Amino acid sequence: MHRGCGEKLHADVQEIMLGEDQIARKVKELGERISGDYRGKEILMVGILKGAVIFLADLVRHVTVPVALDFMAVSSYGKASESSGVVQILKDLDQNIEGRHVIVVEDIVDTGLTLKYMLDNLATRKPASLKTCTLLDKPSRRKTDVVPDYNGFVIPDEFVVGYGLDYGEKYRNLRHIAVIKPEVYVKE
Ligand code: IMP
Ligand code: MG
Repeated sequence: MHRGCGEKLHADVQEIMLGEDQIARKVKELGERISGDYRGKEILMVGILKGAVIFLADLVRHVTVPVALDFMAVSSYGKASESSGVVQILKDLDQNIEGRHVIVVEDIVDTGLTLKYMLDNLATRKPASLKTCTLLDKPSRRKTDVVPDYNGFVIPDEFVVGYGLDYGEKYRNLRHIAVIKPEVYVKE
């Protein structure tokens, strides 16, 4: 972990885990890998609202094959920072995915329960292929056998915010991925 150079710290941030430049380089690399792997094909990227929005927006600008976008919103019942595995679809896709090359884009895979549910659900709609791209992977907390096909960073078991990820809907706008101070949690 490092402090990041010249990045202004939000008062609630304890430590920067991944700096803005480090994230940007990785997202570019992921976009280039996907573009190579899907050469000659068209992709449908499905962003999981809301956490994946910023990652998807940056990622898609490094994709050089034709790409369409769609979104799903899901909520997992349970505490804010822990998913229960019971997932409810709050907003479904606008498009039919049958016969299409789908990549589900998610901010983080933690227990894997959300992604597993999404994949099982989307698979029943008969896409030509179905893959996953996550920015962050916290494998230590995995409760399913989900392994992202594309992943930016493997991180330790710490709750992180920024670059789309929130705590209580806050901090999505931070330009880096950060750990927030413990006292921020006890305030609520
Ligand atoms: P999973 O179902 O446990 O894999 O959790 C996936 C979802 O939990 C993500 O889409 C996030 O919304 C949320 N989540 C898990 N870990 C974190 C974290 O460290 N920071 C912010 N959100 C997280
Ligand atoms: Mg989320």
